[in-house]
Amino acid sequence: MDMKVIFQDAAGFQTPLLAVFAVDIAIGKDADPLIALLTTSDAVTNAAAGIISSDEFKGSVGEQVVLHDPNGLKAQRLLIVGLGKAKTLSVDEIRKAAGAAVRWAKPRGVRQMAIAFPEDHALSDEHLENLPCTLLSRALVEGATLAERDWDTYKSDKKERPIETLTVIAPEGEESTTREIQTGFDEGRIIAEAQNFARSLVNEPGNVLTPTELGRRAAAMCAEKGLKCEVYSTAKLEDLKMGAFLAVAKGSAQPPALVVMTYEPNAEKGKPAQKDAPVLGLVGKGITFDTGGISLKSAEGMEKMKYDMAGAAAMIGAMQAIADLKPSVKVIGIVCSAENMPSGTAYKPGDVVTAMSGKTIEILNTDAEGRMVLSDGLHYAKTLGCTHLIDAATLTGACVVALGMINAGIFSNDDDTYERFSQAMRVSGEKFWRLPCTDDYKDQIKSQIADIMNTGGSRWGGAISAAMFLKEFAEDTPWIHLDIAGCAWNEEVKPWHPKGPSGVAVRSIIEWVRTYSS
Ligand code: BES
Ligand code: ZN
Ligand code: ZN
Repeated sequence: MDMKVIFQDAAGFQTPLLAVFAVDIAIGKDADPLIALLTTSDAVTNAAAGIISSDEFKGSVGEQVVLHDPNGLKAQRLLIVGLGKAKTLSVDEIRKAAGAAVRWAKPRGVRQMAIAFPEDHALSDEHLENLPCTLLSRALVEGATLAERDWDTYKSDKKERPIETLTVIAPEGEESTTREIQTGFDEGRIIAEAQNFARSLVNEPGNVLTPTELGRRAAAMCAEKGLKCEVYSTAKLEDLKMGAFLAVAKGSAQPPALVVMTYEPNAEKGKPAQKDAPVLGLVGKGITFDTGGISLKSAEGMEKMKYDMAGAAAMIGAMQAIADLKPSVKVIGIVCSAENMPSGTAYKPGDVVTAMSGKTIEILNTDAEGRMVLSDGLHYAKTLGCTHLIDAATLTGACVVALGMINAGIFSNDDDTYERFSQAMRVSGEKFWRLPCTDDYKDQIKSQIADIMNTGGSRWGGAISAAMFLKEFAEDTPWIHLDIAGCAWNEEVKPWHPKGPSGVAVRSIIEWVRTYSS
């Protein structure tokens, strides 16, 4: 989909479809909806006056109504998309509404469309003005770019053709505003494309996307974007004494892949890095299929375990955007990829393995494999000089039980690092809920015979046990752990997305990285 932004009155733009956003400004809990269009174009407002004053359109988030041959407009159709209540309006609703507009158009054969940039007419001070132009523009572009994807790669008969061009029509205004809109537009495109890349990896079946293939795709992205990339396998894991990662990998006929992607900020290329400059380590769980291993999962729903590499995909996607956005901070992306299989060579409950850090791990359950590969990934990141760590993993069913599918889990051993992520979440619109990992929980991973064990001694608080395990390997390095098990796959269709891979965490990780850029 080609996208561009132009600055003119939306009424005069010739297009098969013009979308405009509407918000409910009714005040009070039980008040009737009072719909206002977010445009300063009088012609657009007039064209929509009838439907807006009727009871047919409530303006709820993603709600759509279309008018053909709208009076006084050059557009053939006017699509009005709801943003929900003005009082709770955030850039997230803009992202969803832009997505809903695209997903209305795509199956109806619309190939060219336009979206009117949301402009404040009726709301003034309180609402849109709190949402900076750059972020509005970015959210709009992200929403549209994300919504355009359908996961029909393996369908022989692809019914829907892509939208060819989308034009964002922003008002002519002061140069500073148009610059902000353009910046948000450009950034939104980069970020959403990175998220779509992550989603496309997550969508791949386990027979296609083996660890080796995941390494290949990461390397191809890095080559295209000018990032340094190394892809290692068994021999290197043995050299590095990655006993935990190797234990998981050895049950499969597919060799593991350890991918190291490095972004050096321009200023640092060729120059010695500034002393004390942070180096960020992004570590992703890349289990391309999780059968559970010898502690075999039940058959029901096992096919979903192809998305057990969503954490790795998030890091690869984030690295792609980082290469384009060029923050002034060094970032190392590490993917720990293996297939978790039961076989004659598989690791077993009761085994004791030694991780790269030297810690010994008693295996209680081979299905707790994600923390095994990540433990070596986190330790390795520190040996590469990372001063701050973040990992993302579809780590525990317990996290899904705790938080459902709306919020992912976040854990941290450092409040400042967490605060930066929290700030990033406000921009990305993604939802993570902090859970504890204080030393009070340490007993949950205490082993009788080794330093630690790979599952909790109690069945309660499983997401925390997993985080406590990882914390043993982050040690004193400021670290964030994202448990995305419940949010990596959209199980429901929404007006702005189909069922399928969500690409969760990509946007927040990118934004978190940018908080370290001067
Ligand atoms: N990949 C799973 C976690 C998962 C569950 C991801 C649901 C996506 C959706 C992970 O490797 C796993 O199996 N974890 C076990 C840990 C247990 C054995 C301590 C779990 O959550 O049951
Ligand atoms: Zn597992
Ligand atoms: Zn897993």
